Amino acid sequence: MSTTLRLGIAGLGTVGVGTVKIVQRNAALLTARTGREIAISAVSARTKGLDRGVRLNDYAWEDDPVALARRDDVDVFVELIGGDEGPAKDAVEAAIDAGKDVVTANKALLAMHGQSLAERAEAKGVSIRYEAAVAGGIPAIKALTEGLAGNEITRVMGVMNGTCNYILTRMQSAGMDYQTVFAECEELGYLEADPTLDVGGIDAGHKLAILAAIAFGTKVDFGALSIQGIERITIEDIERATDMGYRIKLLGVAQHSGRGLEARMTPCLVPEASPLGQLEGPTNMVVLEGDSVGQIVLRGAGAGEGPTASAVMADVCDLARGIRLPVFGQPASALREPVASTQETPAPFYLRMTLVDKPGALARIAAVLGECGISIDRMRQYGHSSTDAPVLIVTHKATRDALDAAMAAMHGTGVLVSEPVALRIEEV
Ligand SMILES: NC(=O)c1ccc[n+]([C@@H]2O[C@H](COP(=O)([O-])OP(=O)(O)OC[C@H]3O[C@@H](n4cnc5c(N)ncnc54)[C@H](OP(=O)(O)O)[C@@H]3O)[C@@H](O)[C@H]2O)c1
Repeated sequence: MSTTLRLGIAGLGTVGVGTVKIVQRNAALLTARTGREIAISAVSARTKGLDRGVRLNDYAWEDDPVALARRDDVDVFVELIGGDEGPAKDAVEAAIDAGKDVVTANKALLAMHGQSLAERAEAKGVSIRYEAAVAGGIPAIKALTEGLAGNEITRVMGVMNGTCNYILTRMQSAGMDYQTVFAECEELGYLEADPTLDVGGIDAGHKLAILAAIAFGTKVDFGALSIQGIERITIEDIERATDMGYRIKLLGVAQHSGRGLEARMTPCLVPEASPLGQLEGPTNMVVLEGDSVGQIVLRGAGAGEGPTASAVMADVCDLARGIRLPVFGQPASALREPVASTQETPAPFYLRMTLVDKPGALARIAAVLGECGISIDRMRQYGHSSTDAPVLIVTHKATRDALDAAMAAMHGTGVLVSEPVALRIEEV
């Protein structure tokens, strides 16, 4: 190893360019903090010669990121291409096999292949660092693996997709419907090429799967997550939740109960006055709870050139300082298979439905809930047409199984006009 830490950066898009800029702008600061010079040896992207608004002439160029990963003058391979298969995965594996440390911002890669990559890296004695993969500029991984290392983690929560939070808060503040705000996001370039990654909860789910693995010492298992997007949230839901003192968030929750691991990324209601309820626009928030520390709340930019590159460079600095940690906070061989909880922790639920405007319709629904062991906390009826009566019910704590049974039984009553919407009210 030379005294200079030599980087090979694959991917020169938003995050790659941001990373190059920090290496160039803060060179003296980085050396002062790590005791070593940090330099870029070589870079790679799809299109050579593109003006990327940053000086690249001093670096060698590789068309193939795998070749970059194997170069002798690269100590740390920085993967900023993206995608859970293809060039990103090939190049990360090549770097590990060549004995290089890896820094990546790629949540999809870690959520889908984290365990096998961790085993591969540990077998070669190299590190994989990925602070930028979860909540962009927020040092959530560092907080969990290092700051809270003395705690048993009891719960991890997060609003970790800025686009979804932007959509939900814009619907709220401007009184605009989902489709209109979605179209606005498309125009502003806020959405991934495949927007279901954002609004379908998949991108945020990748991040939650990574956090859950670290928090609970389990193998990262994206498939075990229960995921629901925000596509069915209407302006009525937003307004009615507000009416009841709540905000709707696409919230990730992972917790270990006596029944096993619960991990879900779903839209749910949180109290308006809570830190999560107050979170506006594209900002992210990660909430960590430990048996000794209680609750800590981290808030900041979850994406963008500067914030994400800031997290990439935090990992590079740790490697320059010689700080090496197991990929998911403990050796890959010690990580357990996650045992999914047989039942979610009971919670109050928000139920929105439209009933036929006939005497006794609401009583039928109340009876179904009662038969399923669910009691009603609050109920409101909103302005109705000649045929339909929109109704909102907030239940006391109930299990998801009881709620699902009640929802199924409601269909048999003949008083529903449309499919009811049920959202969990999370105690935060
Ligand atoms: N953007 C964010 O705010 C953000 C936040 C957190 C995490 N991330 C993660 O960071 C990673 C990069 O995201 P990004 O937004 O910077 O993506 P991006 O702007 O789309 O950039 C991707 C880069 O990869 C290069 N690339 C694509 N295919 C390649 C190939 N076969 N060989 C070599 N280079 C290739 C592209 O080259 P060309 O430029 O020549 O096309 C481009 O420079 C992703 O994993 C993403 O999930 C991003």
